[in-house]
Amino acid sequence: MTQDELKRAVGQAAVDLIKPQLDDNSIVGVGTGSTANCFIDALASIKHLFDGAVASSEASAQRLRDHGIHVYDLNAVDSLDVYIDGADEINDRLEMIKGGGAALTREKIVAAVAKQFICVADETKLVGLMGTFPLPVEVIPMARSYVARELVKLGGDPTWREGVITDNGNVILDVYNMQISSPADLETRINQITGVVTNGLFALRPADVLLLGTQDGVKTIR
Ligand code: 5RP
Repeated sequence: MTQDELKRAVGQAAVDLIKPQLDDNSIVGVGTGSTANCFIDALASIKHLFDGAVASSEASAQRLRDHGIHVYDLNAVDSLDVYIDGADEINDRLEMIKGGGAALTREKIVAAVAKQFICVADETKLVGLMGTFPLPVEVIPMARSYVARELVKLGGDPTWREGVITDNGNVILDVYNMQISSPADLETRINQITGVVTNGLFALRPADVLLLGTQDGVKTIR
């Protein structure tokens, strides 16, 4: 199977997994990226079974609306049973690097609200030690250079993702060569740099379930 076929397989597997728990009042948390897009497309086939969705990006919100799925503002939602999203890297503790699509802050917010986080990923995303994929950090624009200097002190090589403005009006620094031996500690330390909005480590709130697309089928890892 190609990588795109694996992404479609995990998107469908996520729909199969959540379908039994959906009812007329259900609101589904939806992530961002090409794998999340496969989930959205599969979700459209059961749109009559739930009320609507909350999206972690304007792009996903538009894709959901294009399918005729109602998109709620997160502030209008009291609770969220489930959030489905992709990852750039994920380890066997289901800690992740996210933010390759620059949606990390809204992804982290929706994940914080959701009772269950289901990660959908093809087998290329599963790693032993995270950090080959550069760690995205969303930064208030005027703090960009200061935050970059602080990230160098933590051992990383930050690069400004020029031309990219997040849905929140901020910029992204991609941090190369970061040693991520203690993901939760590093997530906390980067969050403490003034001017950082969010970093792409999802270790304090890892996924609860990984649906991993492999050549032997979709594996469920908890
Ligand atoms: C976007 C994300 C995505 O989940 C991550 O980049 C994976 O994307 P894809 O499924 O396209 O590989 O964090 O900010």
